[in-house]
Amino acid sequence: MPKPFVFVTRQISENGIQLLKDKGYRVVVSKKDGVLTKKELFAAVKGADAILSLLTDKIDSDVLDAAGTQLKIVANFAVGFDNIVLDDAKKRGVIVTNTPSDAVNDAVAEHAFALMCALAHRVAEADVYAKAKKYQGWNPDLLVGTQLKGKTLGIIGLGRIGRSVAEHAVHGFGMKCLYSDQRRQPDFDQEFSAKYVGIDRLLQEADFVSLHVPLLPSTYHLISTEQFSLMKKTAFLINTARGPVVDEKALLRALKTKRIAGAALDVFECEPAIDCDLSDTLELKNFSNVILTPHIASATKEARESMSEIAAQNIIAVLSGRAPLNPAK
Ligand code: GLV
Repeated sequence: MPKPFVFVTRQISENGIQLLKDKGYRVVVSKKDGVLTKKELFAAVKGADAILSLLTDKIDSDVLDAAGTQLKIVANFAVGFDNIVLDDAKKRGVIVTNTPSDAVNDAVAEHAFALMCALAHRVAEADVYAKAKKYQGWNPDLLVGTQLKGKTLGIIGLGRIGRSVAEHAVHGFGMKCLYSDQRRQPDFDQEFSAKYVGIDRLLQEADFVSLHVPLLPSTYHLISTEQFSLMKKTAFLINTARGPVVDEKALLRALKTKRIAGAALDVFECEPAIDCDLSDTLELKNFSNVILTPHIASATKEARESMSEIAAQNIIAVLSGRAPLNPAK
């Protein structure tokens, strides 16, 4: 019997690749230092029993058909799996998995907090200011920010990452916590003295709003003009979830009209472009109260290694005839 063939769409931490090789699989890792084009992907996946994909790979019926009917699993190297058309996979009996882990939760929660602290303490503005040698002497009015302690954090989407953000906020920084989710989580309310509220009330009361929902038809442009109009003028928005959850044009208008105090984004609506409409003179980078990071919230060594291992373990389980550890659903 030929060895199972696993195609990995881009170089990832070696630990997971090694696990696959140790199983005796034929593992091919794309040599391209970038995202494969559709054509390259079609050719590369042909005959694969498993595809280890990245969130930058669009996996739809065309790719699945290019792989062939022997394909059993697409293991996505990400927590989110909005890059994969689940129905197309389901129709073909192909299992889809993702890579949630404590290390990923911690990484994203820490990054959301890094952004929150940076907004509150105007770290990015201060860095630009100091490096431009504008600092002439201590001044009580210089770059005055706002403290986190005692402020209210509104968490939209209370999955594993949302909970980890709450832990940092409440136990680490003495913040109050509101959350909105599909359902109330009484254990969480108790542990974090948190309040379960509807999104509108959360937006009206929170000083910081942090997004932790997956990208679904129901969360597309969840935060748009109407939602910005509910927020406090002193409030900040943090998005480490998926770009299209925020209507970026509405965000730009909210920033321009000072509807909100600022925003920090790790994800973008037209990623990897930072602004969807390049002809637009209103660009995110022009706002000093906006902090941008290039989709690196889960980019810690610990998280990347755990993602590599989990993706490999899911492939091993499915190719061994067992149930996947992390089915995407
Ligand atoms: C990163 O964005 C992920 O979904 O893991």
